[in-house]
Amino acid sequence: MKHLIAPSLLSADFLDLRKEVEMVNQSEADWLHLDIMDGVFVPNISFGFPVLKAIKAICQKPMDAHLMIVEPHKFIRDFAEVGVYMMNVHYETCAHLHRTVGAIKEAGMKAGVTLNPHTPVSVLEDIVDEADMILLMSVDPGYSGQKFIEHSVEKTARLRELIDRRGSRALIQLDGGVNLETGKRLLDAGADILVAGNFVFKSPDPTATIKALKDLK
Ligand code: DX5
Ligand code: ZN
Repeated sequence: MKHLIAPSLLSADFLDLRKEVEMVNQSEADWLHLDIMDGVFVPNISFGFPVLKAIKAICQKPMDAHLMIVEPHKFIRDFAEVGVYMMNVHYETCAHLHRTVGAIKEAGMKAGVTLNPHTPVSVLEDIVDEADMILLMSVDPGYSGQKFIEHSVEKTARLRELIDRRGSRALIQLDGGVNLETGKRLLDAGADILVAGNFVFKSPDPTATIKALKDLK
């Protein structure tokens, strides 16, 4: 499968969100990555449902919601109503992950499970068959523009091995510090989807930067 690119709106110009979403619409991006933060699970607060609904009205790409919030199961119906494609919850926030993943799928969305940089791939052994996607954080979640954590490359390879061994269909997404150099190494290690925030939106030509990420071999 050709890899997918999901620009992270967290690095966009929030005074000109329409222009930014339309840029993504016109680009070779596959999904739009949306970072939801609650100031509890992560030391930052981003945006919530009113903003997501406004984006949904003009967004032509599948919406990929990355929930950095405690008790994400309380909001499954709300995310389904917005119409997000992927509801992605952190392993570290879910006491009953199997139940949460099942409820997300029952609500008509794809279910993603995210691991913090310090959480080992081995905890996925008994959930990877159920998940549509596993997101490995390659920075500690909370902010755009942080430095890539090197062990993410080797960790991606370990997840690839686990998924292939179990015959799971889960896609592997990487998020944090992705650029052409780290992105290439992550794809070589087995990643399917690259998220990029600063590298896309702070570049002089975001459309061309998305294309360059998409053209990585
Ligand atoms: C961080 C977010 C990321 C962030 C990535 O908590 O999950 O999606 O926007 O930004 P960059 O690509 O700048 O590291
Ligand atoms: Zn994210």
